Amino acid sequence: MSKKMKRRDFMITSAAAGVTIAATRVKGSPVAPTMLIPAAVQPVVVSSANGNRFKNRGNMTAVHKAFSMITKGEDVLDSVIAGVNIVELDPLDDSVGYGGLPNAEGVVQLDSSCMHGPKKRAGAVGALEGVSRPSLVAQSVLENTDHHLIVGKGAQDYARSMGFKIEDDLNTENSRRQWLEWKRRIDPQHYLDPAKRAEAGHRAALEMLAEGLLREENMHGTINCDGINSKGEICGVTTTSGLAWKIPGRLGDSPILGAGLYVDGNVGAAGSTGRGEANLYNLCSFVIVEEMRRGAHPKDAGMEVLKRIKANTIEKRLLKADGNPNFGINFYILNAKGEHAGVSMYATKYAMCNENGPQTLDTEPLLPGKPGD
Ligand code: GLY
Repeated sequence: MSKKMKRRDFMITSAAAGVTIAATRVKGSPVAPTMLIPAAVQPVVVSSANGNRFKNRGNMTAVHKAFSMITKGEDVLDSVIAGVNIVELDPLDDSVGYGGLPNAEGVVQLDSSCMHGPKKRAGAVGALEGVSRPSLVAQSVLENTDHHLIVGKGAQDYARSMGFKIEDDLNTENSRRQWLEWKRRIDPQHYLDPAKRAEAGHRAALEMLAEGLLREENMHGTINCDGINSKGEICGVTTTSGLAWKIPGRLGDSPILGAGLYVDGNVGAAGSTGRGEANLYNLCSFVIVEEMRRGAHPKDAGMEVLKRIKANTIEKRLLKADGNPNFGINFYILNAKGEHAGVSMYATKYAMCNENGPQTLDTEPLLPGKPGD
């Protein structure tokens, strides 16, 4: 017990930071009454692995930036969004924001959502074109409107009206080159019927993965970042260019509350990267938070939804020869005590920053092997 803590601090409280039960010795009494004392939360930030890879020519990764802002007392949502802004703007990351892999017509369409635990508010945008940091537009929806989700041209009009710069094209040389390669493979003569075209598109993407031209995590590349401060305030954000070469207008899980992100300020946060359709079918982030509400540790809550996804994946085109899913899906989870976990269908990495600095850690996988083996 801290020497600085005075008796008047031993108040029965249900502070957001949580409580611990302590029995202590008081003069004249063998055992003092049990008291509830505030348990300080150690601030922590978790994210997908790209949150500790890209720096956009600066000196901090996303989790590092978010953690340093949180520990300086900045709002937790401002902090995690400032973190993911680094990845959104970095042209080397082709899964998020500027330079994200475009849709089937070569247009970069971005999705993002954010949730503020203490304020119990959320905002999101989907299929947004021309704004390199969609997470800031999602935050603007949270702060300035009565709505949770604005999509398509409406989202761009909204962003313009709120003063965001609309760029003509968010492709980088790399994202355009990759799209052209995909287009060349699926549609050399422009005469494929729609069924063959879809099949060819899927096959071309798998070939590009096998040839190492494309990273599996960037097919559905995304960043999710969640943080908690010493007061136990929890916020989260998810931002993405979505599925590479998607049908224009396709929304994945990232902008959908309960799928790509869910935060309950009293319980915890969960967010996702990977195959959005598998997540949407099961609303996994919401389920994870509900599991934690019932007392599950973040890792066990995450394992529960991975099992559910596996059980609900029955279409042959989504299965490997061994009957397991042929895609990756990952969850980044934080509870109100600051306990955290990264879990995934197949082994991968996640990022975390605490008082020991930014780290890249192994996720807990449900299955052995890889999505494509
Ligand atoms: N999880 C990102 C997406 O599927 O769009």
